Amino acid sequence: MAKLIFDHNGEERELPDNSPIIEVCEEAGVPFACTEGVCGTCVIEIKEGKENLSDPTPEEEDFLGEGTRDERLACQCKIKCGTIRISF
Ligand code: FES
Repeated sequence: MAKLIFDHNGEERELPDNSPIIEVCEEAGVPFACTEGVCGTCVIEIKEGKENLSDPTPEEEDFLGEGTRDERLACQCKIKCGTIRISF
């Protein structure tokens, strides 16, 4: 199992390895709109564990650039394994 921690309140959610994180993020209050990686509404900041996320999709690279991966689109990325801490 992988674990997602929300930085603002310390809430922890477990989810199977290689799962999309969209559902858990939506339940925690991350706003979504297009869910297709186009609008940028769902940008999250990765505080810890960015190496535990799937590689950015082409949509993420278009929107966020090919940078440090400290920001991701929550509608696009999957958690591979381990723990990540995010804020939004
Ligand atoms: S909801 Fe539009 S980019 Fe994620």
